[in-house]
Amino acid sequence: MKILVTGGTGYIGSHTVVELQNEGYEVVIIDNLSNSDRTVVDSIAEITNHVPVFEELDLVDRAATFACIEKHKDIVGVIHFAALKAVGESVEKPLLYYYNNLTSLINLLLAMQKFDLQNFVFSSSCTVYGQPDQLPVGEQAPLKKAESPYGNTKKISEDIIRDSVDAGSMNAISLRYFNPIGAHDTALIGELPLGVPNNLVPYITQTAIGKRDHLKIFGKDYSTHDGTAIRDYIHVVDLARAHVVAVKRMLQGNSKIPFEIFNLGTGNGFTVLEVIKAFEKVSGEKLNYQFTGRRKGDIEKVWADTSFANQELGWKAALGLEEMMLSAWNWELALSNRFT
Ligand code: NAD
Ligand code: UFG
Repeated sequence: MKILVTGGTGYIGSHTVVELQNEGYEVVIIDNLSNSDRTVVDSIAEITNHVPVFEELDLVDRAATFACIEKHKDIVGVIHFAALKAVGESVEKPLLYYYNNLTSLINLLLAMQKFDLQNFVFSSSCTVYGQPDQLPVGEQAPLKKAESPYGNTKKISEDIIRDSVDAGSMNAISLRYFNPIGAHDTALIGELPLGVPNNLVPYITQTAIGKRDHLKIFGKDYSTHDGTAIRDYIHVVDLARAHVVAVKRMLQGNSKIPFEIFNLGTGNGFTVLEVIKAFEKVSGEKLNYQFTGRRKGDIEKVWADTSFANQELGWKAALGLEEMMLSAWNWELALSNRFT
């Protein structure tokens, strides 16, 4: 069975392609390589002994998108990762983010409609909850005003998908990721941040390897047990496996309603200092860090109520924080070997 994975050479997409191929699915990747590298296809092939089909194209190009879907119209499911995702950049270039993320989505849904493809999995984010009133946060929690144009593209995308599902025969699942980190245990694929990383874990590993002088911890006056902000970090491989489960659920006709939404986290929150401590333990490195003021737009704490995903999908995150940090560190070491 053939699955289309947009953004399949990206960070989460590449791990998902590996899990899909390990389960025997044929994969077609669409990516415009705006934030990833063609060599990822070779790495996926090395891990799985199977080369996915790779179509380099930009999903904002409707004609090219239609032609590609027509060529692969035996696709039975679509997992849509392709998007721009840098929160700060989205504040500076909102139109680029709305244009890229929403036009891609609409073109893909139009192509699915034209070629009668029915099963759609969407990459959403816990950013849609903002700072929740209650923790852990469940899928029914009210959505808050988005803190950034990027976050708003996720909210609007979910509305577009819901309306499309209501209007036709398509089924969809939106997966709201908490904080994906870590890398494949082969260290052949992982996150490839361009330039200075925005996210905590690549910043930690780049500091430890000497690419950055020190980590700045944003805020030490939060109302948490050590004053630093709390997030629900999830291993990217656990996250990838949830996509395979979601696709199977739709293919087997097990969706309870045509548009389902699931939180993907571990259900455990960790502070920034706890993440650093886990990193220092597994790597044996001492991290150079300093405290600085809060980062604009950051929330204090969030972690997921995962009970609905656990029960309905029969999926549960299996890998812990130390495994996440060790795999992230091994990936950073592998990258430094690759480029020296
Ligand atoms: P990524 O940047 O590594 O992967 C996205 C891929 O999409 C890239 O390979 C990029 O080249 C491609 N792409 C972007 N625009 C495209 C277009 N118009 N046409 C074709 N390809 C295009 O990002 P990721 O971390 O793997 O994120 C995947 C998805 O998960 C995104 O939708 C992101 O918003 C969402 N998400 C990520 C996180 C996170 O922390 N990484 C958290 C929540 C949600
Ligand atoms: N942090 C630092 N120093 C840094 C980077 C981050 O202290 O150099 C802190 C942040 O202030 C935050 C925590 O580490 O408290 C995690 O920050 P990240 O940037 O790694 O992650 P965010 O929770 O801010 O956001 C991430 C993605 C979003 C996504 C969200 C939820 O960047 O795209 O997770 O999935 F929407």
